[in-house]
Amino acid sequence: MTDLTKAGLYPLGGAKVKRMGYGAMQLAGPGVFGPPKDHDTALAVLRAAVAAGVDHIDTSDFYGPHVTNRLIREALHPYPAELTIVTKVGAVRGADASWNPAQSPAELTSAVHDNLRNLGVDALDVVNLRITGDIHEPSEGSIGARFAVLADLQRQGLIKHLGLSNVTAAQVAEAQQIAEVVCVQNHYNLVHREDDALVDELGRQGIAYVPFFPLGGFTPLQSETLSRIAAKLGATPMQVALAWLLQRAPNILLIPGTSSLSHLRENLEAAALVLTDETIAALENVSAEQKVT
Ligand SMILES: NC(=O)c1ccc[n+]([C@@H]2O[C@H](COP(=O)([O-])OP(=O)(O)OC[C@H]3O[C@@H](n4cnc5c(N)ncnc54)[C@H](OP(=O)(O)O)[C@@H]3O)[C@@H](O)[C@H]2O)c1
Repeated sequence: MTDLTKAGLYPLGGAKVKRMGYGAMQLAGPGVFGPPKDHDTALAVLRAAVAAGVDHIDTSDFYGPHVTNRLIREALHPYPAELTIVTKVGAVRGADASWNPAQSPAELTSAVHDNLRNLGVDALDVVNLRITGDIHEPSEGSIGARFAVLADLQRQGLIKHLGLSNVTAAQVAEAQQIAEVVCVQNHYNLVHREDDALVDELGRQGIAYVPFFPLGGFTPLQSETLSRIAAKLGATPMQVALAWLLQRAPNILLIPGTSSLSHLRENLEAAALVLTDETIAALENVSAEQKVT
């Protein structure tokens, strides 16, 4: 079994977590809606992740809705002391599987209570305020009033630490005037590099940057260059994409998502994959290649 500590650890809220974690979104049904295609496999993936040493799981009550949180509870409760579960609030699902912003004080408060109930905890480890803006890209605008609602729930003891998702650097700075921000979760991967400067700025401040869609999301990255480099290393393209993120900056924490035990194992093995400077330079071509196609 791969030693996940090979990729190092980084502070996340009150803990120092392994940089290779797990994202639970893919455990819900198609379109992140409804029950998993195989309930037992979903539980097995969660248990295998933790058995392999994963101590950081990303989730939300709007996955399913309620499905992934309930699976996490069924598979892992009572939770190991070292496990950090990061959830997010800011949206609800329609009966037609749509994703709808839910960012009023009442909606944010109710989402925190849903997460507490469905995860079966008295206080949530980390809650990210997920700004809806454009769907997977941030857009400017004040988030202070919304973040203050979560800061109030933190003061009440319902949330231990706060983070942000789908935000700009200016929004991070605005939130930091209200309460400590322990992590930022934005869209970022080998070919989606808009946050390069933000990753580094957060690193200077000791704040974790957690890319969502680390493998490219619902349609994982496909690139001839990436496949060629992976073959040369005796690794898979997904492992190289994850190793690249791990080497990109020490404050990057990974939460690759999968519903499959074999993909989980494959992804966790990337914690031990070291890329040379030459390989990293060659991987810059993947980004260029995707912009052309
Ligand atoms: N804050 C936000 O707005 C936001 C948005 C999206 C996601 N997230 C979080 O980020 C996590 C990661 O994002 P994600 O799951 O959407 O995208 P991802 O990790 O980039 O990729 C997941 C996709 O890749 C496939 N996959 C995983 N491992 C693979 C492998 N080794 N080989 C081939 N295919 C593989 C998965 O399918 P299989 O199930 O078949 O493996 C799934 O289709 C989520 O789980 C969620 O917790 C947050």
